[in-house]
Amino acid sequence: MITTPALALCDWSMLQQKRRNLARRHCSPRESSSYFTKMSRIGGEEIKHLMEKLEKTIMPGEPFNIKPLILKACANMFSQYMCSLRFNYEDTEFQQIVQFFDEIFWEINQGYPLDFLPWLLPFYKNHTKKICDWSTTIRKFILDRVINQRESNIDIDEPDNDFTDVLLKSLREDKNVSRNTIIFMLEDFIGGHSAVGNLVMLCLAYIAKDPVIGKNIQNEVDFVSNNGQRSIELHDMNEMPYTMATIFEVLRYSSSPIVPHVATEDTQISGYGVTSGSIVFINNYELNMSHKYWTNPNNFEPERFLEEKIKSITMSSKLYDIRRCSEASDSGIEIEKETGTYHASSKNQFCRGKVIENLKRYGHHRLQLKKNIPHFLPFSIGKRTCIGQNLVRGFGFIMLANIVQSYNINSTDLSSIIINSATVALPATTFPLVLTPRM
Ligand code: HEM
Repeated sequence: MITTPALALCDWSMLQQKRRNLARRHCSPRESSSYFTKMSRIGGEEIKHLMEKLEKTIMPGEPFNIKPLILKACANMFSQYMCSLRFNYEDTEFQQIVQFFDEIFWEINQGYPLDFLPWLLPFYKNHTKKICDWSTTIRKFILDRVINQRESNIDIDEPDNDFTDVLLKSLREDKNVSRNTIIFMLEDFIGGHSAVGNLVMLCLAYIAKDPVIGKNIQNEVDFVSNNGQRSIELHDMNEMPYTMATIFEVLRYSSSPIVPHVATEDTQISGYGVTSGSIVFINNYELNMSHKYWTNPNNFEPERFLEEKIKSITMSSKLYDIRRCSEASDSGIEIEKETGTYHASSKNQFCRGKVIENLKRYGHHRLQLKKNIPHFLPFSIGKRTCIGQNLVRGFGFIMLANIVQSYNINSTDLSSIIINSATVALPATTFPLVLTPRM
């Protein structure tokens, strides 16, 4: 058995398994669950605030530093989902912690030698002090503005309202769970918003670089919203495969290059002996960028994640039964799978010309995301798979689709858009974009 060391929930101890179960129930909203409905409502409400703010702030045609606003909207989605709290975009304490979360996200994604060689610590004093100062400010905010008041009012017998309730109750109910653990978990999970914000920024960057991508997303948006009659909602996700494919293509290029695990017992991988205690890396970079697995891996081509929907003609319409079952596909990505009416094309071979031709001929509603790409593991696979992946997809989708519905995205200086492979993180101060209202 192989498990992950030193990542969010640490080793595979009983405590870790308990924490994972707690977090998974609340932070992995599955389609058709009440958590999914909650994610959908919160995403939709926050988008209204974001759109209002954008409308008031942007100067059409002028470069605009959109990243802080995207991060604040994401932070609010996460804090409403996990703590039932929304903060005003003008709240300076909120602005500060959103920025500090983002600074930390950038730093932890740099892959310093210190991450692997802890004895280098004395040479990284300034670096670690900076991170400690940011973390201290975040901790104070979480205590003052989220935990303290809630903790005194918690009623063990009332149903759980959110993740914060669950964590606080577990503190009372389970002697093995410490206060520090639950505060750390809450910080860690709320901090996940930085990943989503940076991911959305990357999607917008690719659109600025290649307007065809933006146009394809807008075609989907216009189709499902009946030409802008309404905003995009979470349940539109299944009808907007190109938009999701864009997010996946960003993940392919930007996922963490390595995922470290530890073998907990002697085993064999592809005939090679692995002894218990060995560190084993999943080489995501090779899986995402190798010519062995992808056609033109260095090109940004969302179409590689699409295939034609094939309507089953053997089923009578009376027997037509859309059973949605949420299951992990071979790629480790948890996709809500429609069984019954449609099935994936039997061969998942990528053929860009054919997919583009189909996009033109039928529109996006005849295409679907490929469900079986065994080498695509942006969220890893198995029992340590990423707990936040449904939040990433859901909130990322709703944010991207609604921004692109209302604005054309460009840049006055494409050379300022620098995208590094194998990291979702962008510097806290990054390229501005030009947002032009569509109507
Ligand atoms: C771009 C966004 C993200 C990517 C690409 C990503 C990817 C990953 C990967 C590759 C792992 C390692 C899994 C393994 O060890 O096999 C992981 C673990 C984890 N992720 Fe994410 N993640 C993202 C966002 C998030 C968010 C937003 C949250 C929380 C809200 C989150 C929570 C976690 C947790 C708790 C673990 C540890 C699971 C465990 O140790 O059992 N992730 N993630």
